[in-house]
Amino acid sequence: MAEKTDDKMEKIVALCKRRGFVFQGSDIYGGLKGTWDFGPLGVALNNNIKREWWKMFVDAREDMYGLDAAILMNEKVWEASGHTGAGFSDPVVVCTQCNARFRADHLTDITTCPDCKGQLGEQKDFNLMFETKVGAEGTQKSYLRPETAQGIFVNFKNVLDSMSPKIPFGIAQIGKAFRNEIAPREFLFRVREFEQMEIEYFVKEESWEAEYEKWLEEIRAWHKHLGLSGENLREVEVEGDGLAHYSKRTVDFEYNYPGKGFDELSGFAYRSDHDLQNHIRASGVSLEYIEADGSRFVPHVLEPSFGVGRTFMAVLSEAYTEDDMGSGTRVYLKLPAHLAPYRVAISPLLKNKPPLVEKAREVFVALKKEFGNVAWDDNGNVGKRYRRQDEIGTPYCVVIDFETLGEEKPEHKDTVTVRNRDTGAQERVHIKELATYIK
Ligand code: GAP
Repeated sequence: MAEKTDDKMEKIVALCKRRGFVFQGSDIYGGLKGTWDFGPLGVALNNNIKREWWKMFVDAREDMYGLDAAILMNEKVWEASGHTGAGFSDPVVVCTQCNARFRADHLTDITTCPDCKGQLGEQKDFNLMFETKVGAEGTQKSYLRPETAQGIFVNFKNVLDSMSPKIPFGIAQIGKAFRNEIAPREFLFRVREFEQMEIEYFVKEESWEAEYEKWLEEIRAWHKHLGLSGENLREVEVEGDGLAHYSKRTVDFEYNYPGKGFDELSGFAYRSDHDLQNHIRASGVSLEYIEADGSRFVPHVLEPSFGVGRTFMAVLSEAYTEDDMGSGTRVYLKLPAHLAPYRVAISPLLKNKPPLVEKAREVFVALKKEFGNVAWDDNGNVGKRYRRQDEIGTPYCVVIDFETLGEEKPEHKDTVTVRNRDTGAQERVHIKELATYIK
């Protein structure tokens, strides 16, 4: 059922909860701000996004190496990277009357509280890293990593020594990152615990511009693979104050989120040799690349960086569709088949006819072996099942009926009805050809 609201994002958030995609974190205790839990269908969509990303950026290429570094790292990493300093702080103001906190750079008036109109206090820097202590003595400070990137830089030498990559090459990582955001907001857009998919691509300084152009194309291809339409995407050249001092070029890929408008989805920065030089200085370890002729240099870095949560939001926003199909408004997720939580749903026409159910189970088991993410749905009538599967984006519904058993039209024996999510069109397909048809 569609909710009584015109706000598309509100509808998506409600659908996410109702159908097991995303729940508020720590829900039964009233939640924890800036945290969200992914339910059975959300984790399936998330995993599909991450798997497709890995396939495209690691498995399909010869110049990429995977990594899974620890979340907890030596505190010196974050001193060297600059994250303990002002560079990773946001300006905060606190209301002297109601104690609400705001990011000063998000306010037009930094003297009056937008909530209670009270007086706002002095602006202070607030570091976004979550601090923790390691070990029983509690003397060793550590942080929950605020980006996966530093795990890649500190393993640069390990990958060089163990894999002998030829430059240019990249290291890719998917993993959790944590930021104690002052004002988490807009569903998964700004949260305190999230996942990143990051690449550090190491190049010779003189070739950064040419490599940058190639990566722009790769990132565009990725967004296309997600089914995001050109009109909802735009590329913004970051200029002036927005550009980090070490970056000569950064392009933000923005998505037109419903009710919010264009905002960052992914970022692509040229980081020069800033990070490796920082770690060389702080650790005293050489992080040079050595050419076959013995010449040495510190590579420069291109960094395509993607947030899983923002990708999830963009994919759902793009897919969420309402149309009129027969009886009233239908809500469906027009997800690309490679991202849908379920590839196909299998139903017996009636749930209390054993021969139908047995045949349907046979088909279900065979397809489950083939695809894994196959749903069994025998609740309510077939129309209701279609609506339910539409709402979670299942591209195909397969119904096993009396014709499948050869009881009505002998020529239809061992054929099933396959119903297409987007068009509602139905076709009879032989069971033997079903897996190929769905593929
Ligand atoms: N290593 C570079 C880096 O971390 P970033 O622009 O701070 O760059 C990269 O983050 C991506 O991570 C963003 O484009 C966004 O998709 C995601 N991201 C960052 N902060 C986030 C937050 N608080 N909540 C959700 N996603 C976030």
